[in-house]
Amino acid sequence: MNDNELIARAAEFRRHAYAPYSSFAVGAALLARSGRVYGGVNVENASYPVGICAERAAIAAAVTAGEREFEALAVIADSPAPCAPCGMCRQMLMEFPVARIILANTEGAVRVLTPAELLPHAFGAAALPTKELSDENTDC
Ligand code: THU
Repeated sequence: MNDNELIARAAEFRRHAYAPYSSFAVGAALLARSGRVYGGVNVENASYPVGICAERAAIAAAVTAGEREFEALAVIADSPAPCAPCGMCRQMLMEFPVARIILANTEGAVRVLTPAELLPHAFGAAALPTKELSDENTDC
């Protein structure tokens, strides 16, 4: 699947965004190594901080389906420049690195970044005292 196809999938998912408070609808499409595509949209809440971004929703959907390895993530919104993931989503992406992060807007502007470009000097598991992830905790 090429970048434009993945952006098109993200745009389709975006139609399901629930953004009554910001009116800023975001769609994400996450391509797993398996070839499957998982969607995410922002889901807002009357208690504003409870809302979730499209990128984290897509990661949660994919991990729920048993995926751990990813090729590309496309994100699209009606933003002046290609939609840039928030800091929380950047950190979440470092846990499940995606080779290509494709940022887009509805006008057709596209920018492709790597996780390290998106979040240099990221915090990661290597900083924690227990460096090895136990299978028990990662796959019940
Ligand atoms: N949002 C996303 O879903 N992804 C981004 O990359 C940026 C921001 C959402 C969060 C909130 O629902 C709305 O956009 C406005 O911040």
